[in-house]
Amino acid sequence: MTDQNYLDILINDHALIERALVLLEKQSELGGKLNPNIAMTLVDFLIEYGDTCHNMKEENVYFPHLLSLGMPPGGPIGVMLEEHKGEREYLDKLKAMLTERIESGNLSTDFKQVVEEYSALTKGHIWKENDILYPMGKRFIRPENEEMLKQEFEKITLSMYGVDGYNRNVRLISSLEHQSGGRVNMLASLDLDVIQNMIDVLPVELSFVDENDIVKYYSKQDEKKIFTRSLSVIGRTVQQCHPPKSVHLVNKILEEMKAGTRESAEFWINFESMFVHISYYAVRSKEGVYQGCIEMVHDVKPYRDLEGEKRLI
Ligand SMILES: [Fe+2]
Repeated sequence: MTDQNYLDILINDHALIERALVLLEKQSELGGKLNPNIAMTLVDFLIEYGDTCHNMKEENVYFPHLLSLGMPPGGPIGVMLEEHKGEREYLDKLKAMLTERIESGNLSTDFKQVVEEYSALTKGHIWKENDILYPMGKRFIRPENEEMLKQEFEKITLSMYGVDGYNRNVRLISSLEHQSGGRVNMLASLDLDVIQNMIDVLPVELSFVDENDIVKYYSKQDEKKIFTRSLSVIGRTVQQCHPPKSVHLVNKILEEMKAGTRESAEFWINFESMFVHISYYAVRSKEGVYQGCIEMVHDVKPYRDLEGEKRLI
């Protein structure tokens, strides 16, 4: 990954660690039927990348830098160090249990419990760092030191994994996800009705055409929309739904998206009393295969009229 600043590096490490945690939880739920090699690879990743590589960036570089800028040693940094120690102890236990499973075929009945405790500690820890410590640290760190932190973090990854070390670990976790039935799909835990309501409550109108330009979906089905839509458009090609004089432009945008030379297009118009922003985005699979195009229509006049600030805190 390019263009990461020092904080992106830490936060992206966390995201990768969280993906490994989810996979380890999945394995622990299989009990005696777990795949010991996958579980061991995950524990090794959590020890080597999660602890040695990531925690080293914090313990050897980030925390000392914050301390040198005046953050008190006993405060959040003290708590984080204690939690790192706790994580290490759990990982040692898990490694010993999996070694035993590989050598003798027996998996300790405590394995699932230890994974749950380790996972709860680590998830809470990541939340505290991402949401409390890092924003707090931003108030201490001077802009001129950000590049130094980034370079020091990169040196640590480089010394352990060589060039492209982070991406190599992303590929490792992606392949383990693939072997374990894919990444967690958060939407799968929601009813379709809730997903639809979530989309409909947003102050934008969405439409989707698939990879063959067939209109498959529009939001706010029963509500008044900026651009009227009716169920009769579903199943028709998008070219049949646009006025003839704009069809060539629609075709051009879609052709470029399919060819991979365009990811988005935007237009804005005065329409009735509104200032309407219309944007199109190519929808692609993780592998980059074109899956269709989503249109977002939005009256942005209320945003253009905003002045000053209104903060939650
Ligand atoms: Fe961390």
